[in-house]
Amino acid sequence: MPANAADRLLQHYVDNFRRLPWRVPPGGAAPDPYRVWLSEVMLQQTTVAAVTPRFERFVTRWPCVEALAAAADEDVLGEWAGLGYYARARNLIACARTVVASGGFPRTEAELRKLPGIGDYTAAAIAAIAFGQRAVAVDANVERVTARLHGVENTSRPIIRSLVDAMLPAGRAGDFAQAMMDLGATICRPRQWLCHACPLQDCCAAFASGEPERFPERLARRPKPRRFGVAYWIEDRGSVWLVRRPASGLLGGMAALPGSDWTAEMPPASQPLASVRHVFTHFELRLEIVAASEAIGIGWWQPLATIGAAGLPTLYRRAADAVLASRKALAAA
Ligand code: ADE
Repeated sequence: MPANAADRLLQHYVDNFRRLPWRVPPGGAAPDPYRVWLSEVMLQQTTVAAVTPRFERFVTRWPCVEALAAAADEDVLGEWAGLGYYARARNLIACARTVVASGGFPRTEAELRKLPGIGDYTAAAIAAIAFGQRAVAVDANVERVTARLHGVENTSRPIIRSLVDAMLPAGRAGDFAQAMMDLGATICRPRQWLCHACPLQDCCAAFASGEPERFPERLARRPKPRRFGVAYWIEDRGSVWLVRRPASGLLGGMAALPGSDWTAEMPPASQPLASVRHVFTHFELRLEIVAASEAIGIGWWQPLATIGAAGLPTLYRRAADAVLASRKALAAA
């Protein structure tokens, strides 16, 4: 790797960086650690395009970690609705309260790593971006860029980390981390890579091989197991009965339609109002929505006119939309 590869990457970042609401321009004043932390948590498993408007809404509602720490759990979970991976929101609340109780965000990777919801990548990203610490943040984008640059087919995190570490320029860890992320997102993309626009083309092993797609090797995905569940649609005078899911587990603490457990067996045939298929990380769910007449469990009547404000996660939002759409179709028939 030429000695000036990192400098060229940084210059490319200075000239092309994505203006994102949690960022400060390269070389500028330090960004707000609260915004860096929040963005990194939102960006775990979620794209920049999906996160950007949600981030803006979130910081308008809770502009600092003290405000977030004082918020009601249901309000934060409701604001997270639709972003998925709700353990992130539960950890976010716990983390905000720990940070406020201890007088602010810690500045080192090791201390950040101890906070709820902060793993190796997120700790390194916050330490580098918010506090300018020398830290190596390796996510899937950085892994792909590095594997291609060095022509590594079989990647492992320790190998990638040491390759990135060797490239890290002194005093620019934050800009460097974001430059690598941007290169991976905009040029060194999984498919449709744009090698002609890459500042590192002349020292890239994958480009030299003529087959950048070979790096890193992709493992075949295994098909996901299926699960089945029933949700109950209980409606009365323009409102639908909603409950809150148990605090832990999948969709923990989120608003929901009441329903059965999700099992590997298809439930006995009933006449559903609608059904939806939803893909989670480890399984695929088919949820049948069945009419029922009595309120079930502890919950509340949510007016259908404001169902969008109920904080339903995507699964139940889609279930409600499917019931309302099938009713509309029937009425029009
Ligand atoms: N993905 C993860 N962290 C990011 C960041 N800070 N900017 C852009 N994309 C990211």
